[in-house]
Amino acid sequence: MTESPTGQTVLVTGGAGFIGSHLVDALIEANDVRIVDDFSSGRRENLRDDVTVFEGDIRDDDLLERAVSGVDLIYHTAALVSVSASVEDPLLSHSTNAAATVSLLEHAREVDARVVLSSSAAIYGQPEDVPISESHPKNPESPYGADKLALDTYARIYHDLYGLETVALRYFNVYGPRQTAGDYSGVISIFLDQATSNRPITVEGDGEQTRDFVHVRDVVRANLAAGTTDAVGRAYNVGTGDSISINELAAAIRDAADSSSEITHVDARSGDVRDSRADISRIRESLGYEPTVTLENGLASLCE
Ligand code: UD1
Repeated sequence: MTESPTGQTVLVTGGAGFIGSHLVDALIEANDVRIVDDFSSGRRENLRDDVTVFEGDIRDDDLLERAVSGVDLIYHTAALVSVSASVEDPLLSHSTNAAATVSLLEHAREVDARVVLSSSAAIYGQPEDVPISESHPKNPESPYGADKLALDTYARIYHDLYGLETVALRYFNVYGPRQTAGDYSGVISIFLDQATSNRPITVEGDGEQTRDFVHVRDVVRANLAAGTTDAVGRAYNVGTGDSISINELAAAIRDAADSSSEITHVDARSGDVRDSRADISRIRESLGYEPTVTLENGLASLCE
């Protein structure tokens, strides 16, 4: 693994959120860290006292300008993370996830800061085959996916056109502490919540759909490597390279939580991706990234 950023002034957008707050924790000892967050899904209890907070909307250009002033490195994790909310309000998704990213890149250009951006496996849409490499066709099926594809593309363009150091990280299914059932939550936090309260675990559809679940700790390690690598101007998948079916996941969570919940099947989600699994050769080779948290260990620690 390449080294981590040290001695830098670092901005984390969405720094009170699920992924952003873990990133702040990993950076704070060795760097001067500030965040932008409007606390719409981020939480104050995720934050340590020694973090400088620029409170407000990522679409507020004046706020961005102040927050970016004097920084060396930007981690852009702020987003409207709900796919269904993006379907209901595409303009809101576009302004938050795509247009605000362009504003941020413009400010980064003014101060020549490196930018590591949170892209998503949503840009691939329904995969043609797995594992999914970075060159897989991009067929996003939601406004969220389209906006993340724009973010991902702008990252490369700002590198190619303006020489800005950018890296786009395409997250697969991220899970871990602080992903709560209140926000737009992933299936693991929903199943854990159901299992620990002995309510039925709700598998959508036949449960044979598969996902590549990557622990937030490994996502942080990918971000730290992206903050220091020479291999910029590129996008990298962030997953484990393994996948598990939702049926297997439900059983594993019930066991890990020592729960008596029954596993029930409810309606399949329309447009649900069938199989998703990352090809992580590129990030392995270029960033020295290696996933370290097995799903078994990740689930066990969430149950503690
Ligand atoms: C995930 C990301 C999304 C990203 C996409 C890219 C999360 C929360 N979402 O969506 O941002 O765009 O990957 O590929 O990480 N399920 C159940 N029961 C439930 C909830 C979910 O069976 O109560 C099933 C779903 O139908 C789906 C699977 O679990 O098949 C995963 O769902 P979810 O965690 O919402 O993630 P994705 O839809 O894969």
